Amino acid sequence: MKVAVLASGRGSNLQALIDEWQEGSLPVEFAGVGSDNINAQALVRAEKAGIPVRAFLRENYSDKEAQEKDILNWFEELGAELLVLAGYMRVLSPSFIRQADYPIVNIHPSLLPSFPGLHAQKQALEYGVRVSGCTVHFVDEGMDTGPIILQQAVPVFDEDNVDTLSERILKVEHEIYPEAIRLLALGKVKRQGRKVTIYRHS
Ligand code: GAR
Repeated sequence: MKVAVLASGRGSNLQALIDEWQEGSLPVEFAGVGSDNINAQALVRAEKAGIPVRAFLRENYSDKEAQEKDILNWFEELGAELLVLAGYMRVLSPSFIRQADYPIVNIHPSLLPSFPGLHAQKQALEYGVRVSGCTVHFVDEGMDTGPIILQQAVPVFDEDNVDTLSERILKVEHEIYPEAIRLLALGKVKRQGRKVTIYRHS
């Protein structure tokens, strides 16, 4: 399965995927990593792993539509069969999602549908939940509303701050994202409307 990735920043989730791929436990081919941030550490990580990279910087486009058109064209050239969002911080437009003829997945640092959007960990702390976590989901036209593939919970402690909670969540992100991509690559994920079924043992 040819995987394209979009990432805006640190790229630790991308690194978790690359690590498993290099260990031979992720049956995919990384077709390319794109970013809207020229300074994204994700681009450095991808280059180091020999994956083609390309930057799509806001300032080089008249509008978001033009930027997304270039991204779509590149992914088409690469023959992308799955788009993985790994900390991509710009919401894809409904038109992008309709035009992409491959599934798009995202990882979000909360147990959706709680705390969608930005600063999910801060939202969770301010709300006072005792359990949070992360969610891998298909991307639809809403904000973090697509069908859920995998979730993993972590506890929230009284003494937590955004950094400690984010770190605890990130650790499990690095486990469930590769697992979700593996299941997708092996054809073990079936989606019917909102309902996702995982066939781990067939
Ligand atoms: C991760 O925590 C990811 O869940 C989050 O950004 C971080 C990226 O870290 N994504 C979102 O909040 C998307 N709405 P990384 O660049 O080290 O993978």
